[in-house]
Amino acid sequence: MANIPFFTLNDGTKIPSLGMGCFMGGPGGGERVYQMCSEALKCGYRHFDTAAGYANEEEVGRAIRDSGIPRSEIYVTTKLGSRDHHRVKEAFEESLKKLDVSYIDLYLMHWPLAAVDGKVVGPEEHPTYTETWKEMEKLLQTGKVKTLGVSNFSIKTLEHLLPHCEIIPATNQVELHPCLPQAELKAYCEAKNILLTGYSPLGQGTFLIENTTIKALAEKISTSPAQIVISWAVKRGTITIPKSENKERMLANITLVSLSAEDMAVLDALHQQPNMHKSLLTYHSKEEPLGVFGWTYEQLGWNMGLGGVVA
Ligand SMILES: NC(=O)c1ccc[n+]([C@@H]2O[C@H](COP(=O)([O-])OP(=O)(O)OC[C@H]3O[C@@H](n4cnc5c(N)ncnc54)[C@H](OP(=O)(O)O)[C@@H]3O)[C@@H](O)[C@H]2O)c1
Repeated sequence: MANIPFFTLNDGTKIPSLGMGCFMGGPGGGERVYQMCSEALKCGYRHFDTAAGYANEEEVGRAIRDSGIPRSEIYVTTKLGSRDHHRVKEAFEESLKKLDVSYIDLYLMHWPLAAVDGKVVGPEEHPTYTETWKEMEKLLQTGKVKTLGVSNFSIKTLEHLLPHCEIIPATNQVELHPCLPQAELKAYCEAKNILLTGYSPLGQGTFLIENTTIKALAEKISTSPAQIVISWAVKRGTITIPKSENKERMLANITLVSLSAEDMAVLDALHQQPNMHKSLLTYHSKEEPLGVFGWTYEQLGWNMGLGGVVA
């Protein structure tokens, strides 16, 4: 069985620090998702990260049920989509029904931005993320969700949200890897008792795992570049959710390796190399106004410019 440490969240619950990401590069994935999650469970994965927007909650839930592994031994995260901020209760019930796993461990607001009738609304328009969060807080009373969190929040949006919270988000899930170590956000969240979860820990492609510095570290300790990056994330105290459909890579990703303080320092400094401090995702708008999914970087509170390069 994989030796993955658990982290304790601000509500006292425990979460495996490494989970299987279930985004298949676009909505859906059908049987591929079922096969991936079934195989992952056999490999020792006990934490799955899906979302209403991934349109594959049914397959994730079915793989969990079919595994025969007790529900209590598996951690399930799903997310409220931007289109559902005005109907939180209904959207939550739909996710629960699709997953069909009796309860959800962690429910995240996927993005601070909402879309009403297919149109993205601005930060001051209804439903604001604060209004949405207040509705999410009510879900705890159902007993069908244990923990609440957010995703894609910045220091700026958290500063707006936190004064209104009865429940402080347990985690903030953001893009996080050596090119985007999110050091300031990490320090801020730690001070507020919010744990960071890193999405796209492998950069959603080959840029990181082909990086010469990471490859050299991997060769030095006879491991793979992906394991270097994943182990760095966990050793830093962040939850990480790499996605893989390939059994060998799944097994590698869940096998953490020991990194020395010097190795950690090399990885911590990677983004300081020229042109390396940046997002590795493709969701950034290519023209003005620059941003993601209809909010500008300023509205999101993301310190970025064209292509997601950190300003
Ligand atoms: N909250 C959000 O807004 C948000 C946004 C993006 C992602 N996420 C979450 O984060 C999860 C992970 O991020 P991601 O799926 O974007 O990207 P990722 O995990 O960084 O990268 C996945 C890619 O890396 C490949 N890969 C996996 N293990 C590898 C290894 N050991 N060596 C070489 N290549 C490897 C995978 O291919 P194979 O499958 O063929 O191995 C896949 O192409 C998602 O699945 C989702 O759950 C959340």
